[in-house]
Amino acid sequence: MEIKKVAIIGGGTMGSGIAEVCAKSGLDTIVMEPEAAAAEAAQNRIDSSLDKAVARGRLSQEDRSTTGALLSYTTDINALGDRDLVIEAIVENEAIKLELFKRLDEVTPEHCILASNTSSIPLINIGTATKRPDRVLGLHFFNPATVQKLCEIVVSIATDEAVVVACEKFAQETLGKETIRSQDRAGFIVNRLLVPYLLQAISLLDTGQVSAQDIDNGMMFGCAHPMGPLTLCDLIGLDTIKSVADVLYDEFKEPTYAPPPLLKRMVAGGLLGRKSGAGFYKY
Ligand code: NAI
Repeated sequence: MEIKKVAIIGGGTMGSGIAEVCAKSGLDTIVMEPEAAAAEAAQNRIDSSLDKAVARGRLSQEDRSTTGALLSYTTDINALGDRDLVIEAIVENEAIKLELFKRLDEVTPEHCILASNTSSIPLINIGTATKRPDRVLGLHFFNPATVQKLCEIVVSIATDEAVVVACEKFAQETLGKETIRSQDRAGFIVNRLLVPYLLQAISLLDTGQVSAQDIDNGMMFGCAHPMGPLTLCDLIGLDTIKSVADVLYDEFKEPTYAPPPLLKRMVAGGLLGRKSGAGFYKY
């Protein structure tokens, strides 16, 4: 089960990074977007990231050219007829993803593995939208995909073990990533551990007895975390944290995953963190 030809569906924040990683690893990589303008935007995003890598001395001009030549862009799903692996990274909307996987199942070869970068949609729902749920799994990359080492491999109850092993080998040996295996449950491994921690930090701040800076300093200087939890919340975006917490709470119905009142009020008030100019800190 050799993976040489890949397609990335959606060239936004995640898809462009994943496509760049694939092409840099020597893979024939097609990026698909629904419209020409979006495909051009995806190409610009990837080109400018590659140019920055050259400017910073992380990529030689020669490797830049080789990588560029391995990338192509399309709006036509029928161009995916010879792919070994498709990684979907479109909007986090279940109905739109299911429709896309139904189409991917029709146009890709039988051996092709269909993966999703979804953060929250059950992989079994995506798998059963196709006639090959045994060849569907999650490949959950982290932002930015060009920098973060981890790829969580999410295994549904229908995924074939041989497909999981092939994707582990691909992520580790071809892409140079670290992999962990997660079962198909909300939050997988990383968000299931990280989100309750962030929610606890927000609840602690809401007691009014501790400052944001002391919470962050506590975890940076006491536990050697690169940044404190409230700074991390601002970086991720409070709306994103709330929606992940909502998914986790909906799945497990445990108080530890319930979005705390302060988070809900801040999201309602448009205090979303860095992207809105203010969150737990001002930017
Ligand atoms: P984004 O909004 O930056 O990019 C989505 C891209 O998909 C856009 O370029 C859009 O034009 C394209 N698109 C939408 N519908 C399409 C369709 N039917 N066919 C082809 N392309 C289509 O979104 P982002 O942040 O890259 O997220 C993508 C996926 O990755 C989501 O499932 C998200 O949950 C997941 N994810 C996001 C992370 C993040 O930090 N942003 C981290 C890990 C996973």
